[in-house]
Amino acid sequence: MSDSTKHFLAISDYGREQLLALLDRARKLKSGELGGPVLAGKSLAMIFRKSSTRTRVSFEVGMTQLGGHAVFLADRDSQMGRGEPVRDTAKVLSGYVDGIMVRTFDHEEVEELARHATVPVVNGLSDLLHPCQIMADLQTITEEFGPGLEGRTVAWVGDGNNMANSWLNAAAALGFTLRLACPEGYDPDAAILERARGLGDVLLTRDPREAVEGADVVTTDVWASMGQEDEAQARMEAFRGFMVDGALMGRAREEAIFLHCLPAHRGEEVAAEVIDGPKSRIFPEAENRLHVQKAILVELMG
Ligand code: CP
Ligand code: NVA
Repeated sequence: MSDSTKHFLAISDYGREQLLALLDRARKLKSGELGGPVLAGKSLAMIFRKSSTRTRVSFEVGMTQLGGHAVFLADRDSQMGRGEPVRDTAKVLSGYVDGIMVRTFDHEEVEELARHATVPVVNGLSDLLHPCQIMADLQTITEEFGPGLEGRTVAWVGDGNNMANSWLNAAAALGFTLRLACPEGYDPDAAILERARGLGDVLLTRDPREAVEGADVVTTDVWASMGQEDEAQARMEAFRGFMVDGALMGRAREEAIFLHCLPAHRGEEVAAEVIDGPKSRIFPEAENRLHVQKAILVELMG
C-alpha cells in the first residue's frame, strides 16, 4: 500500500487472514449479528467515471445502513470531468469526507488518488481490477460451500479482464485452484498472472472444457468491458466457443454454482439456461456486494 492510510485498491494488498476476517464480518453484517450506526456522521465520496448500477447503489445504501452518508460524483457534473487534476481532487475531497470510492478507467488514477488522499480510497473498478466484486463472489462461494476456500476450484471462462485479474489475486492469497480459459490475445495481465502462478495453483488454457472439468464454481463476464465498446464485434469473433452453456456447465461438479458480476449478455458469454438456471447464484452474489463492502468500509473508516 502507498502510505500509512489504509486503502482497498487490490486484493493483493491484503493477506489471507485479513481477507477471511473481512468475509467473516460481511457474513455477520448480513445475518444481523453485527450492525448499527458505526459510521455515524461519516461521509463517503463516490467518484464514477464509468456507469454503474450495483456499485453505486450498494455503496450508497451501505453507508446509509452504517449511519453515514454517500456523495455521488459523476464526470458529467464534476470538475474532474472537465480535467481537474486527480491529485487536487484527492486533497480537496480529503478535507470533506472520511473515505473515497472510485470507479475509473486507468488503474494508475486509482493509485494516484490514494497517494494524494489523506482518507481511505476504495477501488470500485478500474480497467485492471475489480476487487470489491471478487470479495462478494468469495462471500457467495463460502455461503454455498462453507468458510474454507482451500481445495475449491474456480473456473474462469472468457476475457482476461479486470475480474480475471482480481480472481488471480484472490487465488494467490487464499489458496484455491483457479483455472482460466481465455482465447489467445485475451490473457490476464502478465505481471498479475506471473505473481499468482508463483503463489498459487493457477492454470491458463485455451480450452473452456479443461477449465470447467470438475470445478466447484464456473464464472464469466462480458466479452467487451466498459471502454471497449469499439472492439465488441471483433471480440464476438474471438470469443466464439467460450459461451458458458448447459453442456459446458455440465462438465463441472454436480453441486457447482455459476457466478457472473453482471451486467450479463445472455446468448453471448452465458446461455440463458445457465444464468437463469438452478445453479446460478447471481442475485445473492449481487446482494453480497452490499454486505462485503460494508465490511470494507467499517475496516477502513470505522
Ligand atoms: N458488477 C458491477 O460492478 O456492477 P455495476 O457496473 O452495475 O456497478
Ligand atoms: N469487466 C466488466 C465488469 C463490469 C462490472 C467491465 O469492466 O465493464
